[in-house]
Formats: sequence, structure tokens, C-alpha cells
Amino acid sequence: MNLRISGVGLSLLLAVAPASAQERELLLADGQQLFIDNGCFSCHTVGGSGNATGPDLSHVGARYDEDGLAGWLRNPARHKLLVHTQKFQHLTRGQVEQLAAYLSSLR
Ligand code: HEC
Repeated sequence: MNLRISGVGLSLLLAVAPASAQERELLLADGQQLFIDNGCFSCHTVGGSGNATGPDLSHVGARYDEDGLAGWLRNPARHKLLVHTQKFQHLTRGQVEQLAAYLSSLR
């Protein structure tokens, strides 16, 4: 009896886990696309690609957590760089989340 109940619990878990992992993948892919579309590579390197005008972001996710990155991206007033202010102010809330998820995955 107990076994059957936990069996049901386990299959529920298995049904849910791949879907959220997939959503995470999509979030990261969208974030990476935003990184490309917004010209971030013109000043930043990730894994050897891009221009090294600004700091290398290959491991930026190890230095800042996702919430911190999202907060930073959401608030252009906190950016010392004019170029960042311009690059970030048009991003929607969803896009900020995507970009922050992507950046935080770079470790
Ligand atoms: C014109 C050049 C330029 C562009 C374009 C640019 N950045 Fe930057 N970025 C810089 C420079 C320079 C710094 C370092 C500023 C500082 O340390 O005060 C920086 C810093 C950062 C940092 C902090 C890195 C750290 O280790 O503290 C992040 C994150 C970042 N940029 C993300 C982005 C993203 C995302 C984009 C695209 C939407 C972007 N940048 C576009 C030049 C640029």
C-alpha cells in the first residue's frame, strides 16, 4: 500500500521535472539570444567569443547570483556606463529574467 502511494508520487515527480528543466533550457536560450541581439558581445567575451573591451563574462554567474543580476539589469540608474544604461532600459521584465538566467548560468 505504502509502496503504491510512493510509486504514484515518484511518477508525478518524473512527469514534472523534465518540463521545468525544459523551461529552464528555453529561458537560457532566450537569454543567450538577447545577449547576441543587444550587442553584448561587442564589448564582452563569453567562452572566447566576442570583444574584450569590457570584462570577460564567462564566469559572471559564479560571482553574482541570478536575483542580483536581474536587479542590476532592471535598474539602469545603477549603471555607471552610459552604454549599459542605453542597452538595458528597453528590456522588458521578462527579457531581464531571461538575460539574468543566461548570465547566471555562466560559471
Ligand atoms: C560598449 C561596451 C559594452 C557593451 C555594449 C556592453 N557592456 Fe557590459 N560592461 C562594459 C564595461 C567596460 C564593463 C565594466 C564596467 C565597470 O566595471 O564599471 C561592463 C560590465 C558588465 C557587467 C559586470 C561584470 C562584472 O564582472 O562586474 C555585466 C554583467 C555586463 N557588463 C553585462 C552586459 C550585457 C548583458 C550587455 C548587453 C546587453 C553589455 N554588458 C553590453 C562594456 C560594455
